[in-house]
Amino acid sequence: MSEAQERAWSELAPAYVIEAPRDIASTSIRPGSAIDPVEVWGREAPLIVEIGSGQGHAVVHAASSRPADDFLAIEVFRAGLARTMLDADRAGARNLRLVEANAPEVLEHLLPAASVAELWVFFPDPWHKKKHTKRRLVTADFALIAGGALRDGGMLRFATDWEDYALQMREVMSAASDFEPAFEGQWAPRFDGRVLTAFERKGARVGREIRDLAYRRATRT
Ligand SMILES: C[S@@+](CC[C@H](N)C(=O)[O-])C[C@H]1O[C@@H](n2cnc3c(N)ncnc32)[C@H](O)[C@@H]1O
Repeated sequence: MSEAQERAWSELAPAYVIEAPRDIASTSIRPGSAIDPVEVWGREAPLIVEIGSGQGHAVVHAASSRPADDFLAIEVFRAGLARTMLDADRAGARNLRLVEANAPEVLEHLLPAASVAELWVFFPDPWHKKKHTKRRLVTADFALIAGGALRDGGMLRFATDWEDYALQMREVMSAASDFEPAFEGQWAPRFDGRVLTAFERKGARVGREIRDLAYRRATRT
């Protein structure tokens, strides 16, 4: 991290970063470490979670423009989290918390079951080379874990600039019994709450089409 980012981390982390109990890896979450959102955010409010928040552009914008909701940014890239805290502090966003951890473990072990109102996955790493596609985040296991974290009727939103990843997302989610599509036709309309990030700009610049997908968590029986 740069010196400014190091400074941001030590000054702002106490207010923004959730210190999670770890398992073996430094970005893991120890099973059985569920937080109480009311205690962490100091109130009861819909919780919106962004996975792979990068520099934090989308989540900081959302947190500062939706003060009635609470936000959690999950990211493994520490410099991105430092940038996010600096911008959140500048924007006066007090309804945002960050966790430096592997997202599926956060959903499974840090957040209580059925506690999330919306889950956002915008421009996840594409791993577009054939030998790497198995590293992609959006798989059947991910859908199962996301279904556990989302409350009934909660939304799972994706955006990607890689066509074959968009197709994979749609295939995975069509087979996921906890979810139903929240759009008609091939793709969801662009989500209003999604600000333009560097990744989207880069994809669009090289001529890749941006696709949104949205799924609703079915009611538990
Ligand atoms: C391509 S970037 C997109 C960032 C941001 N969503 C945007 O649109 O600007 C993907 C981000 O996901 C993060 N990431 C990848 N795997 C992750 C995981 N398992 N848990 C948390 N974050 C992850 C990466 O560190 C990276 O910052």
